[in-house]
Amino acid sequence: PEVALKSGNARPMPAVGMGTAVFPVVHEDTKNAVLAAIEVGYRHFDTAALYRTEEPLGDAVAEAVRRGLLRSRDEVFVTSKLWCSQCHPELVLPSLRETLQNLKMEYVDLYLIHWPVRMKPGPLAFPNKKENALPFDFEGVWRAMEECHRLGLARAIGVSNFTTRHLDKLLAVATVPPAVNQVELNPVWQQRTLRDYCAARGVHVAAWSPLGGQNWGGKGNAVLESPVLAEIAQARGKTVAQVSLRWIYEQGVTSIVKSHNKERLRQNLEIFDWELTEEDRVKISQIPQKKLVQFEILFLPDGEFTSVDPAEMNIQ
Ligand code: A2P
Repeated sequence: PEVALKSGNARPMPAVGMGTAVFPVVHEDTKNAVLAAIEVGYRHFDTAALYRTEEPLGDAVAEAVRRGLLRSRDEVFVTSKLWCSQCHPELVLPSLRETLQNLKMEYVDLYLIHWPVRMKPGPLAFPNKKENALPFDFEGVWRAMEECHRLGLARAIGVSNFTTRHLDKLLAVATVPPAVNQVELNPVWQQRTLRDYCAARGVHVAAWSPLGGQNWGGKGNAVLESPVLAEIAQARGKTVAQVSLRWIYEQGVTSIVKSHNKERLRQNLEIFDWELTEEDRVKISQIPQKKLVQFEILFLPDGEFTSVDPAEMNIQ
């Protein structure tokens, strides 16, 4: 299954994509994982300048074309992202050109602003010094994103980690509205308010960490260890990961899911020929909500980024 985006001219976005933000990056591991994913049927890949996985992803796609697994690069939907230190009007186009060079591609299907955070120009690293933070220039950066689209280098443009407050500011100045907002979203952090807001404005929502992430901070994984999801999984004869991904799909949200394991990659695509019951959906809607990934380092008091939109807690 695929989703037609409401702005831009990208091909429809496959409803499950493979994430490539795995640290540390080992070029061959990422390349092999992407090749395995292509073999089991993935046609949607997500990367970012920050992740340093653009090159192995591009190498894998080129290799897949050489091996005849894909007819051409046009068969895959590829997303990349503009990093915080590149969020300056004059740096947007050069940053996308660098991304395309890394990918060895002529266009990306989707180019996203990675965070509503602007840092002084500098390394592709997490912002860790307050003095490097600058006010976010919604209009200037979005004009440059629109130029990338106009030039055909980004078939669609969008954002990531934007709250409703950020989207208000962006939509007020956008000529080409953002096609996508990619945010942390899973049964433990359902983002209902944000989803309603995006649905009303034609912004498609994509989910990062749809399975609860990679045990950030050693606190375990609240999605994969959820007793509610485990009970549903057992009743349906599915895995907890599949229940989570199926629930996200039924919400009309695209999952960007990470795995370097071919069996788990395959399993994560097997969510389209069965469904949750109404009772399952009610149980999932009652899971206590908690933001799992806390990027404290980005929580700059004067910046545009706020950790949790209080409205997100009112999900019932
Ligand atoms: P692995 O590469 O060992 O499969 P995210 O929620 O950010 O996408 O993180 C997914 C994490 O869960 C990854 O660390 C991945 O590790 C693991 N994972 C992916 N698919 C499954 C699955 N089907 N069952 C259990 N764990 C999974």
